[in-house]
Amino acid sequence: MRLLNLLPIPLVATVASAYFEITSPSENAQWRNGGVNVISWEKGTLDGIDSFDIEMTRLSEDGLTYIASTVPAEKASPSSLNVYLENIPAADDYFLLFLNATHGIMYTTSPRFTILNSSATSTSGSTPTPDRAVATVTISGTPNPTQGFVTTFAAASSALPNLEWRALVGIGAVLVAGLGGAVCVLV
Ligand SMILES: *[C@@H]1O[C@H](CO)[C@@H](O)[C@H](O)[C@H]1NC(C)=O
Ligand SMILES: *[C@@H]1O[C@H](CO)[C@@H](O)[C@H](O)[C@H]1NC(C)=O
Repeated sequence: MRLLNLLPIPLVATVASAYFEITSPSENAQWRNGGVNVISWEKGTLDGIDSFDIEMTRLSEDGLTYIASTVPAEKASPSSLNVYLENIPAADDYFLLFLNATHGIMYTTSPRFTILNSSATSTSGSTPTPDRAVATVTISGTPNPTQGFVTTFAAASSALPNLEWRALVGIGAVLVAGLGGAVCVLV
């Protein structure tokens, strides 16, 4: 138990160096197809990150859905983005990645959240209201390199094999750390 809990710590240190937290979607949030959903974040200043890329992936499936590139991160910029979902497979194991996709440097990951079919009944309480002053991007379907906003891990990794691989290691470290944390709480 103790070992499990201690092991991931050095790995995490290489991933999360500055304060950068995704506040929406929160843990177990429910996003909906056919609706506008909200991504928002909080970030420290003076960390040298002035823009970042947002991608979405699942624990149980390969493939990255590209949501937005070069999102401004300066203090004066809006710290949220609206996402309209269309025909995204319903599942409960999605999470977001904030990263520099060029170098495969991971800044932060969101908690795991759910995407519902448009007809499904939401069981979670309040969902954040979209801010009409910020941009809305539309994503649809499964990861597919021929679709506008949507790109796949395979497409990205053919250009940058080693760098994207490093990004994956980062995700693994965060997930392992999450499990370690859960073990710790149970003890
Ligand atoms: C990723 O890093 C490179 C070089 O450090 C930079 O030129 C690029 O703008 C960064 N990407 C984003 C989305 O900020
Ligand atoms: C969502 O809808 C699709 C198509 O109508 C269906 O195949 C799928 O089983 C549904 N998924 C859930 C979780 O309800």
